[in-house]
Amino acid sequence: MIDTALSAPDHGGLRPWRIIQVADSGRQRLAAAFVEAKRRRTPDAPQAILARERDKALHAPTLLVVCARPRGDRPDIPAYEQLIAVGAAVQNLLLAAHALGYGASLLSGEKARDPLIRACLGLALDEILIGFLSIGSIATPSPPRPPQHADAFFSVWGDTAAPAVATDGKDSAPGSSTGRGDDATNPSLPPAR
Ligand SMILES: Cc1cc2nc3c(=O)[nH]c(=O)nc-3n(C[C@H](O)[C@H](O)[C@H](O)COP(=O)(O)O)c2cc1C
Repeated sequence: MIDTALSAPDHGGLRPWRIIQVADSGRQRLAAAFVEAKRRRTPDAPQAILARERDKALHAPTLLVVCARPRGDRPDIPAYEQLIAVGAAVQNLLLAAHALGYGASLLSGEKARDPLIRACLGLALDEILIGFLSIGSIATPSPPRPPQHADAFFSVWGDTAAPAVATDGKDSAPGSSTGRGDDATNPSLPPAR
C-alpha cells in the first residue's frame, strides 16, 4: 500500500510527505495524548466526548499519520503543488485499501493542529499533520453520497472564440481597443468570428 503512495503524481519527485504507522504498542500513549489534548482545548468536555477521543486512537486495526513537508528550496514547485502531491498520495492509499477489500478514512479535526499531538508524534516544525488514516474492515458502509451535478465543476474550452489577452497581461473583451480588434493580425490567434 505504501508503494501506491510513492507512485502518486508528484512534480519533481519530491515526495513531500511522511507516513507514520502508529504501532500497536503506541496506541495507548496516543490515546492518552488525544484525551489530554481534548481536555486542554475543552476543559469542560464530558466523559463521553473524552472516551470518543480515546477511541479514535484505538479503534482502527491500522492507523497511519499522514504528514506533509513542503520543501521551500524549490521555487519552481510551489507549496500548493507539493500539497496536491500529498493529497494524491493519500488518495492512492485510500484506493489501495479499498481495492484490498478494506475501508479507509482520512480524518483531521482540531487534534491534527494541536501542539500536544504534534509533539507526541515527534513532528518537525515544518511538517503539517494532514490527517489520521484509519484502515480496517468496513463495519457500517457509508451512506451513498447525494448525486452531484458534474456540470457545475466541468466545462469544455475552445469551441467558441476565445477572448483575447492584452499584451500587458490583462484580460480584455473581444473587440475592445486592446482586445481582439488589436490582435486580429496576431497569427497565434484563431480568426475572429
Ligand atoms: C485532509 C482531509 C481531512 C479531513 N478531515 C475530516 C474530518 O476531520 N472530519 C470529517 O468528517 N471528514 C474529514 N475529511 C473527509 C473524510 O475523509 C471523508 O471524505 C468524509 O468523511 C466522507 O466520507 P466518504 O468519503 O466515505 O464518503 C477530511 C478529508 C481530507 C482530505
